[in-house]
Amino acid sequence: MLEESIRLRDTISGLMELAQVDMDYTIAQQSPIRMDELLWDVQAYWVNKAGADALQINIEHMPDDEAMLTIPANYQLLFIALNNLIGNAFKFSNQQPVKCNFFADETAIRMQIIDSGIGIPKEDLNLVFKSFYRATNSHNFVGSGIGLYVTQKIIQLFKGTLQVESVEGRGTAITIKFNRN
Ligand SMILES: Nc1ncnc2c1ncn2[C@@H]1O[C@H](COP(=O)(O)OP(=O)(O)OP(=O)(O)O)[C@@H](O)[C@H]1O
Ligand SMILES: [Mg+2]
Repeated sequence: MLEESIRLRDTISGLMELAQVDMDYTIAQQSPIRMDELLWDVQAYWVNKAGADALQINIEHMPDDEAMLTIPANYQLLFIALNNLIGNAFKFSNQQPVKCNFFADETAIRMQIIDSGIGIPKEDLNLVFKSFYRATNSHNFVGSGIGLYVTQKIIQLFKGTLQVESVEGRGTAITIKFNRN
């Protein structure tokens, strides 16, 4: 057992080092990403997986200047980050519809994913971004506690922030925000 867990630990730290190299490479490989188009692409993906009205996108505000819809980033990584959040929203609500609000102006781009699932207990709220951490009410749902950790790494990589609001038994809202300086 001990030997096995040491091997697993070495494998994981190897993977982490590899991921770090990939991240360093990605920082150097950014290109302008149209965030509204990314969101429509993500929605098309979920139409196939969860059904036509499963992911409901609501455009709260669009900027006059199209350039305000773009941030320097990596398309595939942002796709993974969004999908992790949306996948959680479906999973922890037993596949109820998920809402996504989109807001962009001269100061920021904001995407908020809202579900009406089991919620996150207050005492777990600032722990769920840790690797392998799962909240106390999540154990009837499959998962290993890695999705949010990866998602936060990706968002931080592109200078964004993640904020979570949740009420146990009611639902969860997670906001991705990219500020313009
Ligand atoms: N939308 C949500 N509703 C309720 N709880 C959530 C939600 N999103 C995350 N959580 C809580 O945060 C924990 C960590 O989320 P994360 O995505 O990292 O793990 P997971 O979904 O359990 O597993 P994995 O993503 O590795 O498949 C979850 O186990 C759950 O307790
Ligand atoms: Mg997950």
